[in-house]
Amino acid sequence: MTTRRLVLTRSAAIVGAASTGLLLPQIVRAQSGKVRVGFMLPYTGTYAQLGVAIENGVRMAIDEKGGKLGGREIEWFKVDDESEPSKGVENANKLVQRDKVDVIIGTVHSGVQMGIQKVARDSGVLSLIPNAGVLAATGALCAPNVFRTSFTNSQPTLALGKAMVDRGHKKAVWITWNYSAGAEAFAGFKESYTKAGGTIVKELAVPFPSVEFQALLTEIASIKPDAVACFFAGGGAAKFIRDYAAAGLKGKIPLYGSGFLTEGVLDAAGPAADGIVTTMHYSDSLDTPRNKQFRTAYASQFKMQPDVYAVQGYDTGLLLTMGAAAVKGDLNNKKALYAAMEGATIDSPRGKWKMSKSHNPIQDMYLRVVENKENKVIGVAAKALADSGAGCKMG
Ligand code: PHB
Repeated sequence: MTTRRLVLTRSAAIVGAASTGLLLPQIVRAQSGKVRVGFMLPYTGTYAQLGVAIENGVRMAIDEKGGKLGGREIEWFKVDDESEPSKGVENANKLVQRDKVDVIIGTVHSGVQMGIQKVARDSGVLSLIPNAGVLAATGALCAPNVFRTSFTNSQPTLALGKAMVDRGHKKAVWITWNYSAGAEAFAGFKESYTKAGGTIVKELAVPFPSVEFQALLTEIASIKPDAVACFFAGGGAAKFIRDYAAAGLKGKIPLYGSGFLTEGVLDAAGPAADGIVTTMHYSDSLDTPRNKQFRTAYASQFKMQPDVYAVQGYDTGLLLTMGAAAVKGDLNNKKALYAAMEGATIDSPRGKWKMSKSHNPIQDMYLRVVENKENKVIGVAAKALADSGAGCKMG
C-alpha cells in the first residue's frame, strides 16, 4: 500500500501568495506511488451525457498511451457536480482537500467552473478544463496551473454571425439559457452578426436548466425573424430542437446555433435536427485519418458515437500524458510541467492545435449542417481563432 503525504512548504506558500494575492499555502503532493486524478463532472441532470463523454475521452487517450502518466499508475476519483454552481467550491474541495488529487479534470457548466477556478487558484492544483467556456478562466482569472482544452463561450459564436449574414439572414432572434455561458455566447454572436450587417431584433432567455420553451417559441413565430440563433446543450438542446419543429417553425425560420446545439443529441432529436446550421471546433465528418481512427476506436470501445465533448476529453487526456511525460511523472516540477503543456501540439481529432498565451485552444471553427444524424462540414467559418484572453496576467 502506498501512503501519500500532503507537504506544505514555506516557499510554496509564497508562490501561492504571489499568484492569488491571498496568504494561502499552495499544495505540494508527495510524488511517489500513483497519480491521483479527479473528475469533477455532471453525471446527473441536463449535462449528464456530456460528463460521460468527457470521461470516456480522457480515459481513451490515456489508455492509448499505455494507461500511465509519466510512468506512474493512476488512481481515479469522481465527483458529480450536478451542474450546480452553488456547490462548486465544496465539490472541488472534495477532490482537492479530501481526495488529495494531483489534477482536477472538470467541468462542463461555466458557473460551476468558477468554483473550481477559485479552488485551483487558492491551492495551486493542476486544473484541466475539458468543456466549460467561461471567459474569466482564461481571462481575468487565468492562472499558470489552469489549462482549457475546449473553447471560450464566444469562440463558436464569433464565427456564426457572418456565416448567417452570408446566407442571407439579416434579422435574427437570439435565444438561450440565462447564465454566463449563454450570455458570453451571445456576446460573440452580437459582435460578429452586427459587424457583418445583421440586426438582432429580440433576445430571449429561459432560466437554466428549464426546458419550458413553448411561450418563447410562440413569440418567435409572431416576430417572424429571418433566422433564429441560440445556445443550448445536452438534454435541453434535444428538447429545444424537437419543440422548435413541433411549434411549426422548422422549414419556416432557419435555426442556427453555437454547435453544442447539435452535439450528442442527434439520436434524441431525430429528423427535427435536419438542416440546423452551426459553428463549432469539431465536426463528425472531418475527413482526416486522425478523426476516422478516433471515431472508429471510440465507437467500438463505448458502443456510441463520439461528439465534441468526447473529443475535448480525449484532448485533455493527451495534454495530461504529454505534460506528465515531460516531467517523468513528477507533477511537482511545475515550471517544466506548465512549459511542456504550453508548448504542446495536440494531435486532436478536430485537427492539430496549440494553447494561446492565456491557456485556451487556438483553433479553426467549422460551419456544419445536420444531415442524417451527422454534423457535416460545409465550410470553415474562422481560421486559427484565439480567445481574447482579456485581462489575463499569469503573474
Ligand atoms: C458552459 O456552461 O460553459 C457550457 C455548457 C455546455 C456546453 C458548452 C458550454 O455545451
